[in-house]
Amino acid sequence: MTKREELIHKIVEKYEAMGENPDTYLEGLLHQQPIQYWDYIQVESLLSLQKPVTNFKDEVVFIGYHQVTELILKLMIHEIKQLVFEEVSEEVFADKLRRLSRYTDMLVTSFSVMKDGMSYEDYNTFRMSLAPASGFQSAQFRLLEIYCTPLQNLINKKGKDRLPDHPTIDDLFEHIYWRDAGYNRETGKSTQTLSVFENKYLEEFKRLAKKVEAKTLSEKFQQIEHPSEKLMKPMRNFDFDYNVKWPLTHLATASKYLDRKGKTKEATGGSDWKKYLHPKHQQRKFFPELWNEISILDWK
Ligand code: HEM
Repeated sequence: MTKREELIHKIVEKYEAMGENPDTYLEGLLHQQPIQYWDYIQVESLLSLQKPVTNFKDEVVFIGYHQVTELILKLMIHEIKQLVFEEVSEEVFADKLRRLSRYTDMLVTSFSVMKDGMSYEDYNTFRMSLAPASGFQSAQFRLLEIYCTPLQNLINKKGKDRLPDHPTIDDLFEHIYWRDAGYNRETGKSTQTLSVFENKYLEEFKRLAKKVEAKTLSEKFQQIEHPSEKLMKPMRNFDFDYNVKWPLTHLATASKYLDRKGKTKEATGGSDWKKYLHPKHQQRKFFPELWNEISILDWK
């Protein structure tokens, strides 16, 4: 049998095993169009998604860069899901963590596109047309956190002090760190940015938190008996890159546009942003058990 005959034989066998008539599929193949880059990558759809609402030239950059971030977050979640829902070797685990750090690094090193080259005046004018939208409302940013770590690790010290003894998922979400950005505990009022975000996504977040209970990336790691330093190092690196390096880069950009000549501007999402965005305040760590006391003090 030639190689080609063998291939056809295998195709026939494949469809027969499925109880299908192989001729139907072979004929389908005959009429199928070759795949082209633009169709496969959906380039036209992708490039039609940047729709500015003002005439400021940099607004399209602002939209595009947020979209790039969302795409990268999607690819990161894709990796994390495999670690959470599948059983993989320690080697694959470490490989995927290194990839997560690489993606985070792409986000950190590219953030200068937002910080440099866009005029302070332009940004502060066009952003007025975008209220109450804020990157704060990125659902993927929150989903990634829920996949990575138990909800308890997304609650800062003050939040932990407020928790009841046996908190439910509802209690944990009530005190999660990111509510500090828009919930006033004295008046019981939320900013518009927070309340519309919670109306849209909170139920989905709670469903996911239930689904990944005892299976988050942090817990999957803890199930590995005697993990080697080769695995612990990329775990720590990813935690630090995502929860310290990115927030600090993002904060430096926010400061450039919102903090000038001693005047602190109010953010689109209305948070006490200087404090809220700082990793020191958020105390967000996906894998706190991998940090000893000294390195925690270094957690900027
Ligand atoms: C000129 C550029 C930017 C400025 C001035 C800025 C400013 C801010 C501010 C002040 C907040 C706090 C919430 C609020 O009150 O609105 C925030 C939150 C956030 N922004 Fe940005 N941002 C910028 C670009 C971006 C980009 C490109 C992304 C990528 C998606 C992004 C993602 C986020 C996220 C995820 C949060 C929530 C952070 C957290 O909860 O820890 N931001 N941003």
